[in-house]
Amino acid sequence: MNITLKNIHKSFGRVHANNNINVTLTEGQIVGVLGENGAGKSTLMKILSGFQPADSGEIWIDDQFVSYDGPEAAIGRGIGMLQQDPLDVGAFTVLENFVYGRSGGILPRWSQAEQELNRYVRDFGFELDPTLWIEQLSIAQRQQLEIVRLFALGVKVLILDEPTTGISADQKAILFDALRRLAHDDKLIVLLVSHKLEDVIDLCDSVIVLRAGERVGDMMMPDSATITPEQISATKTHLVELMFGQEMALHERSLATLGETVMSLDDLHMRSKRLDISGVRLSIRAGEIIGLAGLDGSGQELFMRAACGLAPVHSGHIRLGERDLTGKPYRHFMQTGVIFGAAGRLEEGLIAGLTLTEHLALVESTAGAIHWPRMVDETNARIAHYNVRGQANSRIEQLSGGNQQRMLMALLPENPRVLILEQPTRGLDVDSSRWIWQQLLERRQRGAAILFSSPELDELVAYSDRILVFYAGRIYEIPDVAGITIDRLGHLIGGEFNG
Ligand SMILES: Nc1ncnc2c1ncn2[C@@H]1O[C@H](COP(=O)(O)OP(=O)(O)OP(=O)(O)O)[C@@H](O)[C@H]1O
Ligand SMILES: [Mg+2]
Repeated sequence: MNITLKNIHKSFGRVHANNNINVTLTEGQIVGVLGENGAGKSTLMKILSGFQPADSGEIWIDDQFVSYDGPEAAIGRGIGMLQQDPLDVGAFTVLENFVYGRSGGILPRWSQAEQELNRYVRDFGFELDPTLWIEQLSIAQRQQLEIVRLFALGVKVLILDEPTTGISADQKAILFDALRRLAHDDKLIVLLVSHKLEDVIDLCDSVIVLRAGERVGDMMMPDSATITPEQISATKTHLVELMFGQEMALHERSLATLGETVMSLDDLHMRSKRLDISGVRLSIRAGEIIGLAGLDGSGQELFMRAACGLAPVHSGHIRLGERDLTGKPYRHFMQTGVIFGAAGRLEEGLIAGLTLTEHLALVESTAGAIHWPRMVDETNARIAHYNVRGQANSRIEQLSGGNQQRMLMALLPENPRVLILEQPTRGLDVDSSRWIWQQLLERRQRGAAILFSSPELDELVAYSDRILVFYAGRIYEIPDVAGITIDRLGHLIGGEFNG
């Protein structure tokens, strides 16, 4: 099967999100779609997969003009997409979700469907219990289910929008093996939108690059079986040039002068259903950046929330200066300058349906009436300062993923005492990540302490003064980050604390 996109145009108000895009895709190929935040990647993928119509342009399958409206119809034509933010599918089990979208018979044959599901799951090396509820699944498992479901429905084109955000290295390896199999053995077309150049170089056969809504280039990827480190780095440089139109300098470690202790955790003990973290002692000093490393679910999420009153503390104390805030709700922490930023953009940090101004009003409003004209001015100031592509009256879900993350940062106060940030650069391109860190480093310079988690080892090493490695609820401290290699950190995250 071949797919040709011809002269695709799509505008949102004044934004030309896709400007005359032409692409031909050939079966058996894994194609990367690259571009900075807001370049138009998700827009193009949504048009191809029927989630939104183009303003103009045509889609041809095997030299035949096709038109379809809606994702179901697109799947009928053989084109399926996994969304950038894992879908909230409500109260369904894995098996129910698997048969969702099948035609014929109101009652599916459950035992037959279950056997079929289990066979796919085994074939792909996935792990999925058909009886679990969707909400019990990790992000990686939801992806696995969606891949299996779409494949069983017979799609010939599989589109993945930033599938590696929020999943572990092991889960990523399983995913990539499945995608290679789908493309190279089953002859599907796989389209991968990603900001992680390593991933794209590792997985893709070729890449197309979008900039400001236009297709600005493409590149064949070197054979990943024989690629050398020099080739990887040269390929990265070339891709970054294509994406941004210029070469980017890398960040240099900056060291801060540390102030007095702003927060201390004293023999803290916290528990969740699956984890038990005890004996945590930590003093955090003004101007200090502490990186939290670990695979998803290793305890860093619980730790960050417990440290600011968003998860219960079983015993021990949390002190801010002289004040003991143990057991107090997040509101009290916030009032003393401890601010939490969650990773799950739309789940925790941002509220779908609210405009940017309304978001600011939520975080800024104290008691009393909101002065809306002033709030709109302030929102516009932050939009400009943080380079958010959107308007004060845009609803948050109208922003591209990276711009949502920027907005989340724009909502942070200027002079916090302690920032606790979960994956602050999740889904951001190289340029935007650097921008965010510039903002964070300025706050650190003014005396803020920063705790942040990240799945990116190089980010942890580049910005942390100290790193805490989480593994199954245990914590291992790396006091001197300058002396650690990324390779060693990778082993620590996998639980190899000895040697
Ligand atoms: N529903 C919408 N309403 C208004 N503007 C939109 C909408 N969807 C996208 N846009 C705008 O179109 C442009 C392209 O957005 P798109 O989501 O395609 O970018 P992207 O390349 O996927 O970026 P990211 O890497 O940040 O996910 C952005 O400026 C975005 O704000
Ligand atoms: Mg996107």
